[in-house]
Amino acid sequence: MHQTTWNKITRHYNLISKRQIKDLFDEPSRFENFSEEAHDILIDFSKTNIDSEAKALLLDLIEVSNISLKRQNMFSGHAINKSENRAVLHWALRAQEQKFQINDKTVGDQINKMLQKMENFSNGIRSGKLKSGANQNFSDVINIGIGGSDLGPKMCTRALSPYHDGPRCHFISNVDSAHLTDILSQLKPEKTLVIIASKTFQTLETITNARTIIRWLKSRLTTGFEKNLVAISSNPHETKKYGIAPDKVFDFSDSVGGRYSMWGPIGLSIMIAIGMKNFRDFLLGAAEMDGHFLKAKFEKNLPILLAMIGIWHRNVCQYSTRAILPYEQRLSILPSYLQQLDMESNGKRVSINGDYVNLETAPIVWGEPGTNGQHAFYQMLHQGTSVVPCEFLIGGSGHEPELAHHHDLLIANCLAQSEALMNGRIIDDAKRMESHREFPGNRPSVTITYPKLTPKVLGTLVALFEHRTFVEGVVWGINSFDQWGVELGKDLSNDLLSIIQRKSDGKALNQSTAGLLSRLTRK
Ligand code: F6P
Repeated sequence: MHQTTWNKITRHYNLISKRQIKDLFDEPSRFENFSEEAHDILIDFSKTNIDSEAKALLLDLIEVSNISLKRQNMFSGHAINKSENRAVLHWALRAQEQKFQINDKTVGDQINKMLQKMENFSNGIRSGKLKSGANQNFSDVINIGIGGSDLGPKMCTRALSPYHDGPRCHFISNVDSAHLTDILSQLKPEKTLVIIASKTFQTLETITNARTIIRWLKSRLTTGFEKNLVAISSNPHETKKYGIAPDKVFDFSDSVGGRYSMWGPIGLSIMIAIGMKNFRDFLLGAAEMDGHFLKAKFEKNLPILLAMIGIWHRNVCQYSTRAILPYEQRLSILPSYLQQLDMESNGKRVSINGDYVNLETAPIVWGEPGTNGQHAFYQMLHQGTSVVPCEFLIGGSGHEPELAHHHDLLIANCLAQSEALMNGRIIDDAKRMESHREFPGNRPSVTITYPKLTPKVLGTLVALFEHRTFVEGVVWGINSFDQWGVELGKDLSNDLLSIIQRKSDGKALNQSTAGLLSRLTRK
């Protein structure tokens, strides 16, 4: 029955694929019918080639993929991450903001306790009055982590900088010594709080950076370095090895995946930066989107609609990439954040049952903030040989009312791009030789709007994308919550490190790798 729906969609697409998107606007209510709004977020997909028939068929496809049951299973705490036999509970970290029912009372209690511990600690850091010790006036916080233990907090603290009234936050992720050196050189160790953020506490980059920074603290502080160090991890066994006392460890459950983790302890740097009230607003925004995802009818359900558009572009139109184009500079990390969310969650070729999937899964996700991109890669978006569906994000107003004319320009630029992509420009016959001035048009885009980038709006937006990823994963039949594809590279880099450090020989290396290694290690 699944296949029947796919066939119907393909048949419909073959009939309409040559149609110009702009002609769909002959329908006077095209915008009303092909945009949807909830919780301050509007998704306009009227500038895509989706019509009523396509929408109905795609929503059918989502329905026959059993999304209602799978969504219920996630929100009931079933072990839907089968390859690791784990429940998927990131939504539970924000559930109390909406008074959702968490089936397991112990889980609910643990989350409340954890939030309370984070709040006490963060209030102490922000006020300089930590219960545990005197003289705790921190001007700077460093979060050491990578992937999900870095991108979420980094993206959010940058996005919410107008709400930032706590110590400055820095993020060290790359194992390149340049990353930490350039940051440490600006900081005073006695005024710096170091957060080691790693779910497993075994990630080589994070552990290497953490060891170097612990050495930096030890060598520069006359008093104990312990006061300047906390850890966030679900592996207390490992944190103990670093001499970090249990009360300095913010623990979280294995059932919260790294890329979904900033709603809990991994969000500690966000909480320290913006304070508990704003952090709670951020959670509330996400919790409202959870409620909407659970309850809204499919045709009004934003995550379902955004997934529907993603599947149309990826599987039906066969576009291999998706551009994320936020127009606000403060959302500059969002494309990288969504890269991990989409590509680590859904970049898979094996189904949840272990068979090979027979359709394309995650697109390549990429992007940059709006007007910068216009002066770099938009040339290709408008006139290149590949079509890239664009997802624009823009707020109604910025945080600088005295500079509102900048925001006017931002809106004008954003809307101009989606118009230009759709309408194109045909040059008249007299200028036929000037085809380089021609814009083919008929290039699809989605525009997501929100009133202003507040903590609550940011929470709602991120939860919208999380659930979109989940729905797409369900339709593709994959497990969106594991990441086995990162393991082989980790193993091989350990082997190579031991060759570079002359602990083993490189006889078994392939000649390209051996040649490169000898060139790179030549003194
Ligand atoms: O290698 C991939 C990954 O496991 C991501 O899924 C995760 O977000 C990141 O590494 C960091 O992992 P950890 O928090 O355990 O250090």
